[in-house]
Amino acid sequence: MISELTWDSRLFNRKIGELKIVSESSLQIEAAIRKAKTDGFKYIICRIQSPQTMLINKLSSLGFYISDIGVIWTGKIDKLLYGISKNSIEGKFIKEATNKDLPTLIAMVKSLFIDSRFYSDPFFSKLEADNLYQTWIKNSVKNRIADVVFFIPNKGLVTCKKSTSNIGEIVLIGVKNEYRGKGIGTNLMQEALKWFKKQNVNLMSVRTQLKNVDAMNFYAKSGFYIQSYDILFAQIL
Ligand SMILES: CC(C)(COP(=O)(O)OP(=O)(O)OC[C@H]1O[C@@H](n2cnc3c(N)ncnc32)[C@H](O)[C@@H]1OP(=O)(O)O)[C@@H](O)C(=O)NCCC(=O)NCCS
Repeated sequence: MISELTWDSRLFNRKIGELKIVSESSLQIEAAIRKAKTDGFKYIICRIQSPQTMLINKLSSLGFYISDIGVIWTGKIDKLLYGISKNSIEGKFIKEATNKDLPTLIAMVKSLFIDSRFYSDPFFSKLEADNLYQTWIKNSVKNRIADVVFFIPNKGLVTCKKSTSNIGEIVLIGVKNEYRGKGIGTNLMQEALKWFKKQNVNLMSVRTQLKNVDAMNFYAKSGFYIQSYDILFAQIL
């Protein structure tokens, strides 16, 4: 029922696992948590798509807390490209990132994604959250976890990944605080959509945190609509 998230364990230097609910029986979930403790896990997560109240209450009573509520947005690429109107002059400074841009990008992501669970979940320190995003951007540019990264030096970035042959995912999009609200996010989104279109993608997907009101408004304004939501429960063992 619990499998190790080896990449996470390695990065955070503590054994981290994911509980997949196969049965909603409290006894079975409790047994899985006990086994996780004996197996040396320090932290477990459990991600549930659009959960019912009963299951939320059950997981809370078994020691889980809500670490994150995600909203999954979707949209047809042609409609999204057609719908984007806002633009800024910054668009012409967008570049495709290569290894030599890593120092700039690493400096840019520090504390950029402050609304993510890694900055609010008590299991992680701020330093670890910063390190996660710095590793994340490094792996994205090296094409391990993204297909392409576009950025405007010292202002903003977007990472794009084809999750299937026709579904494109915006994994990270961020604009530095002082440059927000000037159309740069829209420029980066537009660049990403154009790239996906060239890759024959016809459907887009992006996940954000419910509490990230700026991003929620941004995706709504960009023409996405809400497909579903998930709740990520966590437990420190
Ligand atoms: C989400 C984000 C990328 C938007 O970038 P941006 O450059 O500020 O966005 P734009 O200027 O292109 O704004 C486009 C639209 O988004 C909405 N929006 C952006 N910021 C908003 C805010 N603070 N409050 C309300 N709506 C906002 C608006 O509808 C805006 O259009 P309008 O100005 O015509 O009303 C930026 O806020 C950000 O970097 N946030 C931190 C990182 C993050 O959380 N990323 C998302 C993680 S998935």
